[in-house]
Amino acid sequence: MSSKKSVNSIGNTIKVALGLCVVCSIVISSTAVMLRPMQQANMLLDRNKNILVAAGIFDTSVHTNADVEEMFAQFTPRMVDLTNGSYLSDERMAELGIDPATYDEQRAKNDPQYSRNLTGNEDVASIRRRVNYATVFVIEAEDGSGYETVVIPVSGYGLWGIMYGYLALEGDGDTVRGIGFYDHQETPGLGGEINNPRWLQQWPGKEIYDDQNEVAFRVVQGGGDGPHEIDGLSGATLTARGVENTIQFWLGDLGFGPYIENEVRG
Ligand SMILES: Cc1cc2nc3c(=O)[nH]c(=O)nc-3n(C[C@H](O)[C@H](O)[C@H](O)COP(=O)(O)O)c2cc1C
Repeated sequence: MSSKKSVNSIGNTIKVALGLCVVCSIVISSTAVMLRPMQQANMLLDRNKNILVAAGIFDTSVHTNADVEEMFAQFTPRMVDLTNGSYLSDERMAELGIDPATYDEQRAKNDPQYSRNLTGNEDVASIRRRVNYATVFVIEAEDGSGYETVVIPVSGYGLWGIMYGYLALEGDGDTVRGIGFYDHQETPGLGGEINNPRWLQQWPGKEIYDDQNEVAFRVVQGGGDGPHEIDGLSGATLTARGVENTIQFWLGDLGFGPYIENEVRG
């Protein structure tokens, strides 16, 4: 009677529960640690696939994830200093402690050493802060005369949150090859249509800048015929405006405008 009581005692129950908690937490944390490299590899694969899709190289009806690594090898990543529109030299990267292989733009955006605040008028895309250094992906022209493709990261507020994507331009730094959004919080069927291939197919061939080199690109509800225009999203004017603001900001003076002038066309 007394031994049965001791086995079922509150103390034993607590000990078993605590033991189970410890075992479960060890299993969960070891699994998380073991899966981390796989998770990072998948994130990189996804990012690279998005860059290829934006550049119009990856056709989802033909290519698979297994093709991404080989196809992506034609791109060279380069670090751009957005404060002056030039590429960062190796020495400057060493000074700044930037390793392009591990540079994390999301983290840099919250670090005052690597980013700056945007004031009201400057913050066209409603992103609050802008990184000072950004990674672009380029394919050099075969005849050595500049670039065939330049892919830049873009981000801007839609209706519900910041939309992240890549915009691919031809070597003239003006004509669009394509765009792809890899992360957003817009409503499926409304703002979420920014990833609808039918909407995205309007982008290739459109021009960002006018003859005065001002950003002339617009998203026009019910429009889209002009060289600088694409049609908006029906029932999602606010997201469409967010996309326009995103392009206005990132191709403008505080975005990649000076880089395009100096390094792409220059
Ligand atoms: C539940 C809900 C979700 C919505 N999601 C979006 C959205 O993702 N993007 C957007 O621009 N508008 C969205 N809207 C609609 C906006 O509130 C607004 O009416 C719309 O952007 C106006 O576009 P229109 O002039 O083309 O109708 C949503 C509305 C509701 C009720």
